[in-house]
Amino acid sequence: MMNIILIGPPGAGKGTQAKRLVSERGFVQLSTGDMLREAKSSGTEMGQRVAEVMARGELVTDEIVIGLIAEKLDSVAGADVIFDGFPRTLAQADALGALLQARGTQIAHVIEMAVDDEALVARITGRFSCASCGEVYHDVTRQPKVKGRCDICGGTEFLRRADDSEDSLRVRLMSYYKQTSPLLGYYHAKGLLRSLDGMGEMDAVASGISAILDS
Ligand code: AP5
Repeated sequence: MMNIILIGPPGAGKGTQAKRLVSERGFVQLSTGDMLREAKSSGTEMGQRVAEVMARGELVTDEIVIGLIAEKLDSVAGADVIFDGFPRTLAQADALGALLQARGTQIAHVIEMAVDDEALVARITGRFSCASCGEVYHDVTRQPKVKGRCDICGGTEFLRRADDSEDSLRVRLMSYYKQTSPLLGYYHAKGLLRSLDGMGEMDAVASGISAILDS
């Protein structure tokens, strides 16, 4: 049983690499961004509040995301887990440590994906995903093999995220540098941090992650 965290700014490629690890190595992906987008479409008052915060590019409260993760952890007991986009604050990191410890497990690696801000803008503004299965594509770097048809499920409808505007991205980047980047020091001090260059092509980044997992 192996738990890993993918950490990096918006658009670094966390979701892309997490999905590869799910299909190639059987990991379970826990993405708080995906969970919050589900809550958003639930039509509840909480969902509405979450939608507004996410559209602005700010972080949702620790209480909400820790609650979501705590709930999911029980349903994935025994699996290899990738935490994608969680934790994002020191309070979330402490909470995750305690939740894992209570379940007799721990974090094996925290993988930092470092990408320049300019490349992030290009990645985020070109991103789109399959409306049926969520597979992520890019206008320039990853088009479906058959134009207009999802490689995975054959879906023909695609979506762009409401928070993928340049304005929202600026706030998301600021949230990353102010609230999330302190986690790099936190995990470095625990001897868990592995940093890799996220600027390479998707296959090169995937090889870098594999090398860490096999080390
Ligand atoms: P979340 O959904 O987690 O978004 P994010 O962290 O901003 O990350 P992204 O999903 O935008 O990017 P990614 O790194 O997964 O990149 P991707 O693989 O898609 O969070 C959204 C919001 O939810 C937050 O702003 C916040 O409001 C809230 N939230 C979530 N978690 C929270 C938490 N723990 N606490 C509080 N609030 C929380 O790649 C991007 C694009 O680049 C794609 O088009 C892809 O095809 C392309 N690409 C990927 N890799 C490469 C490569 N190597 N070369 C070229 N192109 C590439």
